[in-house]
Amino acid sequence: MALIAPSILAADFANLQAEVEMLNDSAADWIHIDVMDGVFVPNISLGIPVTQAIKKHSSKPLDVHLMIVQPERYLEAFRDAGADVLTVHLEASTHLHRTIQQIKALGMKAGVAINPHTSVALLTDIAADIDLVCLMSVNPGFGGQKFIENTYTKTTELAALLKARHSKALIEIDGGVNQGNADKLIQAGAGVLVAGNFVFSDANPKAVIARLKSLA
Ligand code: DX5
Ligand code: ZN
Repeated sequence: MALIAPSILAADFANLQAEVEMLNDSAADWIHIDVMDGVFVPNISLGIPVTQAIKKHSSKPLDVHLMIVQPERYLEAFRDAGADVLTVHLEASTHLHRTIQQIKALGMKAGVAINPHTSVALLTDIAADIDLVCLMSVNPGFGGQKFIENTYTKTTELAALLKARHSKALIEIDGGVNQGNADKLIQAGAGVLVAGNFVFSDANPKAVIARLKSLA
């Protein structure tokens, strides 16, 4: 059964406490937090103080996705703000292996995200060191975009690569996830599904989360 990580990016930022309490009361496993710097991606979202504010009300682990350049500068700050899983982009990290070791030394689970154009093969020499791979199934920067179909192939390829490298890393799919692709992604090897708009645009987000959670 896959873990479900609703993305707070699609929540009502003016009512964050209520949104987090709704997620506490749902079948969600993690809360996914998208941090954007306006440099690595063309959008600016939220950062350390908002992560801290979410942590104050959340009973679920925080899955923090850093879409920022030089993420190594902020590892400790996000740990202190309450991140349980911290994911950096391969494309933004010059010394990715060192950054992964630092995240783990700070007591968090370490994730690596790759953009739609980045080959899963680039993860070969880091696969055994990481807890999670975030496959971007849209170009990062915005919620509510269309799912890129090539993600199914990448998920299958990544599952084989992780197995060959004896890695227990979870495969997380991020972007455009909905009822129509979730099942196929899980069959291909996805272990965590991020969902933003699909959850929060519904009148009953808890029911949507429960439906995603009930998939094989
Ligand atoms: C995109 C973010 C995603 C986004 C997903 O840059 O990384 O986590 O919130 O939102 P939906 O599910 O609406 O595509
Ligand atoms: Zn994300």
